[in-house]
Amino acid sequence: MTRPSGLPGPDLYWVETGALTESDVVAFAACLDDEERARAERLRLPGARRDFKVAHGLARLALSRARPDRSPSAWRFQTGPHGRPEPEDAPGLRMNLSHTRGLAVVAVSEAGAVGVDAEATDAPHARPETAALFCNDAELTQWRELAPDARDAAFYALWTLKESLLKACGAGFTLDPRTILCDLLPLRVVAFPPRPTGRWRSWATTLPGGFRLALSLDETGPSSEPRACRIIAPDDMNAPEDEEATGLSPAVTLDEIPHGPPPDFRPA
Ligand SMILES: CC(C)(COP(=O)(O)OP(=O)(O)OC[C@H]1O[C@@H](n2cnc3c(N)ncnc32)[C@H](O)[C@@H]1OP(=O)(O)O)[C@@H](O)C(=O)NCCC(=O)NCCS
Repeated sequence: MTRPSGLPGPDLYWVETGALTESDVVAFAACLDDEERARAERLRLPGARRDFKVAHGLARLALSRARPDRSPSAWRFQTGPHGRPEPEDAPGLRMNLSHTRGLAVVAVSEAGAVGVDAEATDAPHARPETAALFCNDAELTQWRELAPDARDAAFYALWTLKESLLKACGAGFTLDPRTILCDLLPLRVVAFPPRPTGRWRSWATTLPGGFRLALSLDETGPSSEPRACRIIAPDDMNAPEDEEATGLSPAVTLDEIPHGPPPDFRPA
């Protein structure tokens, strides 16, 4: 996964699935295996079926960009104890994906385990009872003190950030998101007590079309920077490794979310 910039780092690819043609969806799905096809067919909502197919096809295409000697349909996956799939027979290569209504996102990394979460922000989730599922008492206090029109954005930012960390460590919601300690404004991960030894880094952005996205990495090597590429059609994934290439141009900037106590923190 050598980039023109020479910087290692997770590569993030995102597709607005609602803008795809039917033939693009078919092309993304062409490399799925029988199990993935069967899982897709079990989804009742056509939009969810489309998002699932695109996300899993995109994952295979992204892995083959990182390891061009393997075709997209040749990838097999091993599932961790809490359900996280990782590519088989590809030492050092990690992958995570997320799909939400109208969006598919994949992160591929040779810099450590990655977790990615994306959410459509038009759903009215930012209610106190939902916030209480993600926020511990200190975060809830901060959230309630925000101006009402700032609460939705802060809620989605916190939700995706915490879920990306839970996915990067592989636990998912078997770990309570409230055990991750954050500040809301400015957004910061103060501590991740269940996984204190990780070299955690996180990034986040808002995508056009009304999506919030976060990426977390348990960094293993030299300091790395993620790259986010908007994919408009499946063929973009075959573009040469050239940051000027159409479709693979870095399309959004990922803002790094700091980890650790705030600079003015004074131990009691
Ligand atoms: C991982 C989890 C947080 C994803 O939630 P979500 O918001 O519904 O879904 P997203 O679209 O963001 O991500 C889904 C993808 O994450 C990946 N994933 C699944 N389990 C994962 C885990 N434990 N850690 C990281 N990624 C995981 C899969 O690729 C999954 O895609 P698929 O459902 O299409 O196969 C949630 O499913 C979870 O907590 N799972 C673990 C606990 C569990 O239920 N385990 C049962 C199997 S042992």
